[in-house]
Amino acid sequence: MQITTFQQYEEEYKKSVENPEQFWGEVAQNFQWRKPWFKVLSWNFKDPEIKWFEGAKLNITENCLDRHLAANGDKPAIIWEPNNPEEESVTLTYKMLHERVCRFANVLKRNGAKKGDRICIYMPMVPELAIAVLACARIGAVHSVIFGGFSAKSIADRINDSQCKLVITADGAYRGNKQIPLKDVIDDALIGCPTVEKCIVLTHVRTPVSMLKGRDVWWEDEVKHVNDTCEAEEMDAEDMLFILYTSGSTGKPKGVVHTCGGYMVYAGYTFSNVFNYQPGEVYFCTADIGWITGHSYIVYGPLSQGATSVLFEGIPTHPGPSRFWDIVEKHKVNTLYTAPTAIRSLMSFGEEPLNGKDLSSIRILGSVGEPINEEAWHWFDEKIGHNEAPIVDTWWQTETGGIMISPIATVTKTKPSFATLPLPGVQPILVDENGSEIKGNGVSGNLCIKFPWPGMLRTTYGDHERCKQTYFSTYENLYFTGDGCLRDEDGYYRITGRVDDVLNVSGHRIGTAEVENAINMHAGVVESAVVGYPHDVKGQGIYAFVINPEMHGEADLTKKDILQTVTRVIGAIAKPDKILFVSGLPKTRSGKIMRRILRKIAEGDTANLGDTSTLMDPAVVDEIIEASRR
Ligand code: WTA
Repeated sequence: MQITTFQQYEEEYKKSVENPEQFWGEVAQNFQWRKPWFKVLSWNFKDPEIKWFEGAKLNITENCLDRHLAANGDKPAIIWEPNNPEEESVTLTYKMLHERVCRFANVLKRNGAKKGDRICIYMPMVPELAIAVLACARIGAVHSVIFGGFSAKSIADRINDSQCKLVITADGAYRGNKQIPLKDVIDDALIGCPTVEKCIVLTHVRTPVSMLKGRDVWWEDEVKHVNDTCEAEEMDAEDMLFILYTSGSTGKPKGVVHTCGGYMVYAGYTFSNVFNYQPGEVYFCTADIGWITGHSYIVYGPLSQGATSVLFEGIPTHPGPSRFWDIVEKHKVNTLYTAPTAIRSLMSFGEEPLNGKDLSSIRILGSVGEPINEEAWHWFDEKIGHNEAPIVDTWWQTETGGIMISPIATVTKTKPSFATLPLPGVQPILVDENGSEIKGNGVSGNLCIKFPWPGMLRTTYGDHERCKQTYFSTYENLYFTGDGCLRDEDGYYRITGRVDDVLNVSGHRIGTAEVENAINMHAGVVESAVVGYPHDVKGQGIYAFVINPEMHGEADLTKKDILQTVTRVIGAIAKPDKILFVSGLPKTRSGKIMRRILRKIAEGDTANLGDTSTLMDPAVVDEIIEASRR
């Protein structure tokens, strides 16, 4: 199933477009099914209704664990690197991981979980997080992992949206030199979550926590009461595997739903091909399992292919900016998959942190989450890859389940800042505002996908209409990505960024409406408008224009309060980088905020505000410009 020459890519691509069912049917043969499908694909983008491998039965954990045991049971599945480099790293072989997943799956059952139940996971980046995820999948429960940086309110909203029955957490998490009190945050969240019956708590940082009688139990105690065999639940290919919440242009995050069969095939196929993974190699994806990249390319993709996946608890700059390079050297990492933000941040420390580090194990480099600028691309190429390791700039989304447009390592000729070509099975199309196809090369437009692929989302949890409206209604019969895109003379794709009201801050998706709602919760705030602006390290920064007449001259203090409010409502990742107090916002006569103008002001490009003739009160703009310069 691995593509090794460009000619082969072209042939596979052609086949995947001309005969998608045969193509994916053959790819799926590389996985283990309890029962085969009777139909590879049935679909329409109108409703939308998409079914892959209909009638097939499987359990994804049999593909990620059991099937490797006979030949590769003693091979490392997960290498855990702790936040503190002085602490020992932990290696779990496939046999050990299998045993622990089975054991914890029994713990879940013992605590009342069964097939179809939703389970919220809020944990640090420790092996038990991967174990918890896989244990849910083992018993057919649907996991909803929430990134450890979200606030109690965000967690409660997500738990309630999918009526989770169980929560899995830890006492706390380390992130660099900070400690995050995960259990405290969960306790706050659970006050407003009536559906949660049990909370399983892992001991990690050994900070005191309060345990609620009847609800809270310790992970360590529970595993003592169960054995380590657990027959995997038989799942239908279209049964739900997980929900992952992500931001859109409205205020409320959406629960993107992925199903068992198609997601497994897509994550496994793309992992094996894009990274040209070779047996025995060590693969290190620096993402957090709280995001889709961690789901698909730390857990499911690599494990389904019997790979060795490094799971890193910490951050790139702790205890110093050579941490990644130390990990590469220590574990002889062959593939490093990271985000442009991390690259830019490490670049800013110069070459000193690289001195004396042995990076010779590196064979493949990868980038994901946001557009990578040329400077960062070249630095990555020269300093980390020594001009020899191909860089795969992988474009995809929570909704796509896996990589969509990307070079195939060692196969596709790369080009700085280009995600290059669609993977087999992916049919991108550029359209103009009216949805007409923009044909030919040397063009740009809105990026859509015109044919289903196995890893695509099936719905948004509890609200299918929302899924339809958000992704399938902007343009008829197309999946709309929300991204702008350029196709150059060679037919290579370059993603230029979101065309909707979604920001990409350090590779994290944040809706402007979400941030505005959070700011507006601050007592003194009357109204606010949030836009993105170019930021050297984060890619995009958050710029908030805020009307707050009750400030009484205490601007700095009020700013601090507002930041705290945002942290409390969403989490620290959504804190604005800049807050500007204004007395009004630029609005059209019909009362719509003209964000285009605010974006220009945030970028410092006030000479080119464009058409301002529909403004209700042009004086407001002058005042904002004046204030922004102060
Ligand atoms: C952006 C992350 C440019 C894009 C896997 C997309 C990228 C959003 C790239 C999805 C890339 C992701 N080049 N932009 N290689 N990869 N994006 O759901 O705007 O967290 O729509 O999934 O990130 O973010 P999400």
